[in-house]
Amino acid sequence: MVKRTRQIGLCLGADICWPICFEEILKRLELNIPWNGETLEFHVERVTIEPFNLRQPVRYDVVIDRLTHWYYTAREWIKKAVVMNDTYVFNNPWSIQSNEKHTSYCAMMRLGMPIPDTWMLPPKAYDSYADLEATLKRYARVFDLGEIGAKVGYPHFMKPYDGGGWRGVTRINNEAELRTAYEASGTSVMHLQAAVLPFDRFVRCIGLGPQTRVVNYDPDAPLHDRYRMDIDFLDPKDRQVIEDITLTINAFFGWDFNSCEALLKGHEWYPIDFANACPDSQVTSLHYHFPWLIKANLRWALFCAASGRRVRRNLDWSPYFEIADQPGDWREKLPRYAALAREHFELEAFEDFCTTHLGHLDAVADEFFASPVAHDAVRQKVEALYPAREIDSFTHLFFQRIQHWRQQESQATGG
Ligand SMILES: Nc1ncnc2c1ncn2[C@@H]1O[C@H](COP(=O)(O)OP(=O)(O)O)[C@@H](O)[C@H]1O
Ligand SMILES: [Mg+2]
Repeated sequence: MVKRTRQIGLCLGADICWPICFEEILKRLELNIPWNGETLEFHVERVTIEPFNLRQPVRYDVVIDRLTHWYYTAREWIKKAVVMNDTYVFNNPWSIQSNEKHTSYCAMMRLGMPIPDTWMLPPKAYDSYADLEATLKRYARVFDLGEIGAKVGYPHFMKPYDGGGWRGVTRINNEAELRTAYEASGTSVMHLQAAVLPFDRFVRCIGLGPQTRVVNYDPDAPLHDRYRMDIDFLDPKDRQVIEDITLTINAFFGWDFNSCEALLKGHEWYPIDFANACPDSQVTSLHYHFPWLIKANLRWALFCAASGRRVRRNLDWSPYFEIADQPGDWREKLPRYAALAREHFELEAFEDFCTTHLGHLDAVADEFFASPVAHDAVRQKVEALYPAREIDSFTHLFFQRIQHWRQQESQATGG
């Protein structure tokens, strides 16, 4: 049979640990997948930064992108690769560029989800611009910040409309704090969002293609303890709601890899942060959940590379809006949104691919995550983040949590 090599490119920034694990497990899988009369092999390499001719070929079938949201040469190279060379990329770079957190709130409000009440404010200060003075003089209405604060209610959160990484997020408890925070906000365009406090649960759900992982999250813990290690902390109905919300958001925006933060208060789930173009992938925060991410990433990348999946040419929101505009509660509509999402992510074909061709992934990953290469990947990441005196202890902690994951996996599969 003719051999064909599918190329996977990793477009990376500061990532250290997950690419090492991704590359090593892929090598150990020794894939030879029969596909339409050919045999597919897979090759992964890291994308380099260099000048490029817009017409030059791109050798990647799939690019896993971690740079687009801030490094624009990479973003424009990826756009060219999608438009001219049919490369598949996650995530859709146009969608990342244009659909800020703000749009994600609006869109999910339109689908009926109980996003907490949110206001947008004009910025406190401006960079100079030729038409600025004339525009503001004519059209900027004087407003009473205290009045808006009272409408949103206290406490609430002030945060940038295009937020990420906790940058510029302030909890506001009263009008005086609101005025102080607004004074300090400078040129940032801010939201005020009603607080869901106190909450009963904080979850972060990671979506990768049609795969999801719901994690119990403690925002007040130190970074290495925020992702909790309990897995059966939700009843199946709540778990389904979170998974459906996450897949709906991701398919709606063309984000294959994204995470959704949602808070449970009483019987209602409130999604609060779900436009994360470059979700946390580091062993130093994911630890116990890190192997799940590596496997999910491999499965989805391999499926996309093998099947020749194409980036959707437009984001057609109409099927979602048609459901949204019908009468009824959003919870009744959610399974229908999620069905569209699972179709978008080709769930059936994907599961079939994994069963048929990646049956040995669990065993290969299990063996790998006990290996010196895995240990070294953890250590390299820890070395990059922690002071010298803490490197041994944190490397040990994260590696032990991975071993804990291995034990639980092997119990679950009866191994
Ligand atoms: N509406 C809210 N209710 C309760 N807590 C919130 C709310 N908005 C933000 N927070 C808290 O602030 C943190 C950062 O806000 P978030 O919207 O997640 O910003 P970022 O995009 O920077 O992660 C959240 O993880 C949560 O702890
Ligand atoms: Mg967040």
